[in-house]
Amino acid sequence: MARIAVVHGPNLNLLGVREPGIYGTATLAEIDRVLESEAAALGVEVECFQSNSEGRILDYLAEVRERADGIVINPAGLGHTSVALLDGLLAVNRPFVEVHLSNPYRREGFRRRSFLTPAAAGLVAGFGVDSYISGFRCLCGVLARQAGADS
Ligand code: DQA
Repeated sequence: MARIAVVHGPNLNLLGVREPGIYGTATLAEIDRVLESEAAALGVEVECFQSNSEGRILDYLAEVRERADGIVINPAGLGHTSVALLDGLLAVNRPFVEVHLSNPYRREGFRRRSFLTPAAAGLVAGFGVDSYISGFRCLCGVLARQAGADS
């Protein structure tokens, strides 16, 4: 069974209370629960991880590369700033989908650059929790096609 790792970057632990007009009212635990039921419906395994520390996220990626077939990541602010996060994802060498709750292209100019997007299988942004669900489903499709091509 394919295993997908979902990584949430800095400040996403505050979802529900953090700028709800931009990020919505769902908490991180609720998002993780939705992804767990989506995974069960699609017949894949999921594990979710959040940290406010870039180093801990890099350590998690280095560790999860042994068991994950693909990654859904909301890099939060790190997407706009971190070459190290890009390098960590490239080192995992698995397809990843970048997701954002908000649409960064409708916001401040500095949010329009993501170091990750050029290396991502795809990007889903602007649909709140549905960005995660769509990104998750799309990654499952990528992995299924990959498995079909390998067999
Ligand atoms: C975000 C968008 C980023 O610009 C911001 O720094 C976040 C959340 C989103 O999900 O919309 O922390 O990734």
